[in-house]
Amino acid sequence: MKQKIAYECQQCGAKSQKWAGKCSVCSAWNSLVEIQVDAKSTIHRSSKNAESKIIALGDVSSEIDYRIMTGIDELDRVLGGGIIPGSFVLVGGDPGIGKSTLMLQMCANIIKYKPLYITGEESLKQIKYRSSRFENIPDELLLMSETNIDNILHVISSSECNVIVVDSIQSVYSEHIDATPGSMGQVRECASLLMQKAKITNKPIFIIGHVTKDGVIAGPKILEHTVDTVLQFEGEKTYSFRILRALKNRFGSTNEIGIFEMAETGLKEVKNPSEVFLARRDDSATGTAVVASIEGSRPLLLEVQALVAPSGYSVPQRTSNGFDNRRLQMILAVLEKRIGVQFRQNDIFVNVAGGVYLNDPSVDLGIASAIVSSFRDLPIRKKMVIIGEIGLTGEVRSISNIEQRISEAEKLGFEHVILPKLSFNKILKKIKINLIPVDRIALALTEIFEN
Ligand code: TYD
Ligand code: MG
Repeated sequence: MKQKIAYECQQCGAKSQKWAGKCSVCSAWNSLVEIQVDAKSTIHRSSKNAESKIIALGDVSSEIDYRIMTGIDELDRVLGGGIIPGSFVLVGGDPGIGKSTLMLQMCANIIKYKPLYITGEESLKQIKYRSSRFENIPDELLLMSETNIDNILHVISSSECNVIVVDSIQSVYSEHIDATPGSMGQVRECASLLMQKAKITNKPIFIIGHVTKDGVIAGPKILEHTVDTVLQFEGEKTYSFRILRALKNRFGSTNEIGIFEMAETGLKEVKNPSEVFLARRDDSATGTAVVASIEGSRPLLLEVQALVAPSGYSVPQRTSNGFDNRRLQMILAVLEKRIGVQFRQNDIFVNVAGGVYLNDPSVDLGIASAIVSSFRDLPIRKKMVIIGEIGLTGEVRSISNIEQRISEAEKLGFEHVILPKLSFNKILKKIKINLIPVDRIALALTEIFEN
């Protein structure tokens, strides 16, 4: 067979027929590496010895034989209900966010399944030192310090370990690829070999991947296609909360989030996130409102903060943290056009406390309220939750799961809830707290301040 030779950029994955000093797609220098298109690695990947068999749909077993519950609810829920045998999971996140900690604690919790923690990042001593901080870390936990993918694959097949963690995918390499560990070619090859191994052995494999500067896992986005599940571990390093979310999940929903707190003795699950997130809130300050978002199957009450300040620039700034910036622009445009407040001379900053990213449109009205509260320098009424999506005509649109959101507010001792009139009309449950239905944003804004 004639071997074709091509070149591949180790940064962006673009292929080209000719070598060049600079990638024509991403402009990286010296990133092109020769690859053999029909060579070893592809053959190696094709399942030559797997039998090709035709099977009727009805004969395919739809049952997943079992799931391994890790006992860490915040993790099990995000995984889609525990670990699926043979699944291949990428755990991504910034360096230092707690990925290794999470995986070690997971291993400790499922010790009866004989997990194996393979480390290429840290020495065994470092792992030992780290784990000495945790409570109940079993001495039987199996570790291996290895970065050669062939050795790793061999151990996965031949050992009795049933769950594998590889920390990290950027540290392992294949001898058959002429590129440094962590480069795109290596990461992709090693990941695809591990994926294959997970499927053949039916052992779940977790790989840890650092997010690079651009926020793309393992540099190459390409890993997302290779794996069954992508878990992203997020949070600000200065803040102790960590949020685990599934960006992709072949076995469950991607809406669920898991919330943890990084403590001195490892990660702790946060079972009552609303309470924890609101604990530090000062409800007499201006520019703060409480919204009720639904994250996966759980309602979550959160504080949103806004600061409207005189601008020193000819083009005022609009900055949001934890909320879509374009959505913020839309809310500001509606406030200017429908309510008549002018922000042209003001910088506006919006922040969602706790490091959560809010996608739920029901938080619009709360954000608008926080902005108006800061603008007028008036605090929002105490013990109030504000729920509603804003439409372009200034209407407050109905939202889903209204009863669930109100129950959460009730549970946490809130006394007033502003909500869309259309959602109010759908409530069947008896509710004790004061409900204030609104259909227009203008009406809502007359209700948010103490009279
Ligand atoms: P780590 O799991 O090493 O992060 P990653 O694998 O994502 O790079 O966690 C790193 C940080 O967490 C480190 O700065 C120390 C802190 N930490 C704690 O606060 N408590 C603990 O019990 C542990 C193990 C780590
Ligand atoms: Mg680590």
